[in-house]
Amino acid sequence: MPVTVITGGTDGIGRALATTYLDRGHDVLVIGTSAEKGNAFLAGAAAAGAGERAHFLPADLSLVAENRRVIAWITERFAAVDVLILGARFHRSTRAETPDGLESNFALYYLSRHLLSHGLVPLLNRAAHPVVLNFGGAGLTGPPRWDDLQLRHNYPGTGALGHSAALCDLLGVRFTALHREPPIHYVLNHPGVVATSFAGEYDPATAAHVDGLRTSGKPVALAVAQILPFLDSPATGLSAVLEGKALPVDTPAFDPEAAAALHEITEKLLADLPVR
Ligand SMILES: NC(=O)c1ccc[n+]([C@@H]2O[C@H](COP(=O)([O-])OP(=O)(O)OC[C@H]3O[C@@H](n4cnc5c(N)ncnc54)[C@H](OP(=O)(O)O)[C@@H]3O)[C@@H](O)[C@H]2O)c1
Repeated sequence: MPVTVITGGTDGIGRALATTYLDRGHDVLVIGTSAEKGNAFLAGAAAAGAGERAHFLPADLSLVAENRRVIAWITERFAAVDVLILGARFHRSTRAETPDGLESNFALYYLSRHLLSHGLVPLLNRAAHPVVLNFGGAGLTGPPRWDDLQLRHNYPGTGALGHSAALCDLLGVRFTALHREPPIHYVLNHPGVVATSFAGEYDPATAAHVDGLRTSGKPVALAVAQILPFLDSPATGLSAVLEGKALPVDTPAFDPEAAAALHEITEKLLADLPVR
């Protein structure tokens, strides 16, 4: 039975993709913090007769230790991972740090995806045609602030997500360079504005703007229809997709040297963190 793992699978685009892969006969694991949303996913799957293939793991993926626990949990229960979808995010108008001392978007939107991408390689390698979907910036949200990756100065509000998305683009570059054989396809998808919950903590001005996006964004079903072809028949190695259109991955946003540098910075940061 193919296995699909989805962070942020309890809501929005991730939830819709979870239902899609359940309908296709996959075992589907969704990860999020809300037991209420996770249980709603399980109840929906049971009502559709797919309860035994639906799984929910509550975890706060902004914490490094939680990502390691999730990797161990998945490794214990599944022989392989066929599809890994990295979609958890949480907007913040104001800068916040996790208990690990990391900027919250950096931790959830970038570092969690770094840990899960690389940490699940042994299981991805056991799948026949493994693919990773990371909701990155598709080359459109950089450049990274190399001198301030933790966004300590001039925090850009909801733009912090775009900054992490640019780091995710470089994560995809490095990941595919390291895992060429056997190939694990890596799709960086920017879905455009999609009408989802936009979970987050907002100041009043941003809240009003986000309220507008919740209604003006395209339907989740359209976002899913635009991404599925790239998951079903991924280009070899790395691809970048904006609203259903493939974009070039040979632009400066995908610079292999920058990707290698970010990988090294990230591994050093992880090595230097106190074990929690
Ligand atoms: N919607 C758009 O317009 C848009 C535009 C560009 C890019 N994207 C990208 O597309 C992806 C999906 O977006 P979406 O709009 O569908 O998301 P969403 O509806 O806002 O849902 C966010 C998901 O992240 C999970 N999450 C939040 N904090 C978490 C934490 N600390 N640990 C674990 N899970 C956590 C939430 O689960 P719980 O509530 O259970 O914690 C929820 O399932 C994201 O990467 C997003 O940045 C979306």
